[in-house]
Amino acid sequence: MDQTTGATPGAGSPPAPTSPFAGMDPEMCANPQPVFRLLRDSEPVMAVEGVGLVLTRRADIDEAFRHPEIYSSNTDAVDLGNIRPLIPLQIDPPHHKKYRKVLDPIFAPRQMALLEESVVHLVNDLIDRFVDQGRVDFSASFSVPFPSQVFLTVLGLPLDDLPRLLTMKDGIIRPDQVTGEDYGSEAMRAYQSAVATSIYAYFDDALDRRQAEPSDDLLSRFLEAEVDGERLTRDEILDICFLFLIAGLDTVAATLDCMFGYLVHHPDQRRRIVEDPSIIPAVVEELLRWETPVMGVARVALEDTEIGGCPVHKGDGVMILLGSANTDEADLPDSHEVRFDRDVNRHLAFGGGVHRCLGSHLARLELRVALREWHRRIPDYSLAEGHTLVYTPAIRSIEHFPMVFTAAP
Ligand code: HEM
Repeated sequence: MDQTTGATPGAGSPPAPTSPFAGMDPEMCANPQPVFRLLRDSEPVMAVEGVGLVLTRRADIDEAFRHPEIYSSNTDAVDLGNIRPLIPLQIDPPHHKKYRKVLDPIFAPRQMALLEESVVHLVNDLIDRFVDQGRVDFSASFSVPFPSQVFLTVLGLPLDDLPRLLTMKDGIIRPDQVTGEDYGSEAMRAYQSAVATSIYAYFDDALDRRQAEPSDDLLSRFLEAEVDGERLTRDEILDICFLFLIAGLDTVAATLDCMFGYLVHHPDQRRRIVEDPSIIPAVVEELLRWETPVMGVARVALEDTEIGGCPVHKGDGVMILLGSANTDEADLPDSHEVRFDRDVNRHLAFGGGVHRCLGSHLARLELRVALREWHRRIPDYSLAEGHTLVYTPAIRSIEHFPMVFTAAP
């Protein structure tokens, strides 16, 4: 079990508070697929102290996603220093439906397609800054700033707020790394909660400004949105914005890291993209499946039940390993091959069931545009000599990603 969490099952004393992925072996974060296979074969439903039950088989994971009334993603499943449940992630059915009814149309593929031009502009603007240099830190100069700039643009916030946005996001997602304090320690929690307060205040100010001067951005649309004749309250909009900040930035950045991490190590696959950019939508889906940048999602059981033949007790934590579901050969016989010609790709990289990612169409747009524009302008690139990529746990990002490249003439 130490391969996945570092926790020791069955130890007598209560576990220290821990991130479900704390202590995860860096080698496992870089190459999780063989470890997932080992877990599925040896202990598909596993009890891990400090985490709860870990699900690894696609069939059990589909079952958990089909029953959000049992496997809840409420605030007991994930605590991020927020003072109210994040909307819609930490709202259980049936109330959850109300919010998706308002938000789904705003994030529908047709609406997202309208953003393509500005997303193309943002990508090219970033590439312009380093294209003449022949080398770049992919993460610092591309994968991290890109989704944050898209976020600021679609919400109608000033691009100058980028550093503030990144500080707020990191303070919630990785407060232990920012502060150097232990995960779950009092000092870490105090910092995380101070950051949470600053996030509510930041968006409250932005909404005041937007209310005074409506525009055609997302904040204005949240203020105007109605469900069953009622507008969202200010607190509800703040709880949505808070979630977007932590759901929509690192996920896209990590996905870009994982995709380019794969491509620098597979030049033949990279050349296929350069030669035929029309395969990019399929590449995006297949690399989302294979890499599964969000390794798992957390749930808490609301009643006694059983899954995969194992008892589940009310209050148990349940960790759903999406990456394992996506590489389960019982569901997809050639799951360990990376193929850009799959007709159907039922991956769970965006989660499953009622909480399936609201931002998937925006994310896909960002990923497709990034892959297309990058390969058009920088068709030939590789990892800087002697460098080994190190992946972070949980959301598999790469902090230092030095690349050398030859730009297109
Ligand atoms: C490639 C990028 C992305 C990945 C891999 C990803 C992954 C996920 C996953 C796995 C979930 C399910 C969480 C759970 O069940 O506990 C989720 C939910 C969610 N994501 Fe994303 N996400 C991405 C991009 C985005 C973006 C850009 C946004 C912002 C608009 C966003 C907003 C959300 C929201 C609001 C939810 C909660 C939906 C609900 O509870 O109904 N995501 N995402």
